[in-house]
Amino acid sequence: MAEVRLDFLGDLRRTHYCGELRASDAGTRVVLMGWVHRRRDLGGVIFIHLRDRTGITQLVFDESKNPEAHKRVQELSSEFVIAAEGVVNLRSPDTVNPNISSGEVEVAVSKLWILNESRTPPFPLEENVDVKEEVRLKYRYVDLRRPHMQRNIIMRSKVAFAVRQALSEQGFLEIETPYMTRSTPEGARDYLVPSRVQPGSFYALPQSPQIFKQLLMVSGYERYFQIVRCFRDEDLRADRQPEFTQIDLEMSFPQEEQIFEVIEPLIWRVCEAAGAAVEEEIPRITYAEAMRSYGSDKPDLRIPPFYCVEDLFAPGTLGTEGLPLVAIHIPGVGQLSRKERDEIKSVGQERGLRVFDDVKRLDRDYPDAMAAVRDRVKPGPEDLLILAGWAGVPKGALPENTVLQACGQLRLHIAQKYNDRHKLLDLKTFKFLWVIDFPMFEWDEDERKWNAAHHPFTSVHDADLDRLTSDPGHCRAKSYDLVLNGIELGSGSIRIHRRDVQAKVFAALGFTEEEAKRRFGFLLEALEYGAPPHGGIALGLDRLVMILAGESSIREVIPFPKTAKATDLMCDAPSAVPERQLRELGIRLNEQ
Ligand code: AMO
Repeated sequence: MAEVRLDFLGDLRRTHYCGELRASDAGTRVVLMGWVHRRRDLGGVIFIHLRDRTGITQLVFDESKNPEAHKRVQELSSEFVIAAEGVVNLRSPDTVNPNISSGEVEVAVSKLWILNESRTPPFPLEENVDVKEEVRLKYRYVDLRRPHMQRNIIMRSKVAFAVRQALSEQGFLEIETPYMTRSTPEGARDYLVPSRVQPGSFYALPQSPQIFKQLLMVSGYERYFQIVRCFRDEDLRADRQPEFTQIDLEMSFPQEEQIFEVIEPLIWRVCEAAGAAVEEEIPRITYAEAMRSYGSDKPDLRIPPFYCVEDLFAPGTLGTEGLPLVAIHIPGVGQLSRKERDEIKSVGQERGLRVFDDVKRLDRDYPDAMAAVRDRVKPGPEDLLILAGWAGVPKGALPENTVLQACGQLRLHIAQKYNDRHKLLDLKTFKFLWVIDFPMFEWDEDERKWNAAHHPFTSVHDADLDRLTSDPGHCRAKSYDLVLNGIELGSGSIRIHRRDVQAKVFAALGFTEEEAKRRFGFLLEALEYGAPPHGGIALGLDRLVMILAGESSIREVIPFPKTAKATDLMCDAPSAVPERQLRELGIRLNEQ
């Protein structure tokens, strides 16, 4: 970099932000500070677009009026940090810039301070410039200056503030829980922290504050919340990070309905803060209904449901007898070519489905049944209607949900593929949904045992308590998910508050008494000291902001995210540590 004489900030104070200057400020003397966004040199007059967090103001350096400042401004390049003092002037009507908020004015600079220089940025900071993600993450501090990242991070802050407001107003206390703790029950791998003072022992970073928030209810805090970092060592995807943030809450003596009554106003407030329009009521459906209507436990309500129609045909006519036959209906897809229809059939096939795409032929072969299908589905003339059933005859018992899920995936595939025609998957449409009455347990075929579908502290429906051990597959949990546009935003449940019930659930999960005591003994003990009925939920803050910001990855709304390999490319973490540090911790590495 060429030698540039730098000025001290001294006692200079900024009087205004760039984005806030308006025509009404004309004549005001201002001091602005920020980054050189762009420079336009017309010889005797040089224009600088000065940028700060709020926006851009045009600075004018006129040689005839202020030769000293005009001379110095020639030393400036992109991203230099400067301060400028001058007078706000109205621009002539033909030079007004409608693209920036301060576009009606400019500042005639009388004095310039160069506070710091900058190397040429690794990529342009303009909107809509495609830059490889590795480069963006390596220079994240530069990337975060780009307009869309600033919008996202500002939105995140507003959403967090709205959450605090909504919950504080409803009597929730913000209480912190530890990050250095024991393993928590969410089912992913733990991140471990070795103890120096107790070599061979490890803390686990919490996968969620689940146990602590339950303990806070035992302690009588009634309503707790926290915007809290959680850590999970699991395979990463666009909507998963190894450390992420939850809006976590818990309350005592709640009905499920009361949890919804707390969350709904929170959602309205958050959406208002993010400038997103939503409907007042969040609809509710049971897990069983979600599977029968969408083939998913996280339905995207922007696309209409599908319909099970096996009852309208003679058993086994299409698809497999005893299993669902599904009418998939996507509005506004229009005519499909032979090639497009074949593609749909092959995607169905990959998922084990037989797809009946020739509706004219179905109409001819099964006129009565198809009339009844149309009566149920009510497709419009431009809508796609196909039927799908299971392709083969299953060897053993094939769960109905396997077929429904495959149909749900096909429905989503078609909807996503033809979105440019029907535009149903609009990024500015926000469809929230509660899914309730999840099954209590899921069967793990590999391990041949039942796992908790939510987590092992979830209450079973009162009516199903007696069949916890005799018929775990048919036990419903008092658990619920909040879904937004087909993405699981949050999960929660009414918890078990009685020691005897908790023991039964652990037994159903195949935990020995010893194992349960070893992992969660302190919670079990706490349940013996007057634990009130309690329940709660956690929403993923990153996912919420991602959807509200119209992004497709949570990395776009996290200031310093990790890559799919859980690496921080900027500070190069994780990294090797000096041998001495390992020795202190009593750790010896295997030869690589
Ligand atoms: P759960 O494990 O379903 O529930 O997590 C709640 C919500 O947290 C978000 N989330 C994630 N976001 C980004 N990256 C991840 N790796 C990740 N994992 C989860 C999701 C999810 O819906 N203790 C229970 C809550 C409760 O019962 O109160 C829990 O953690 O949006």
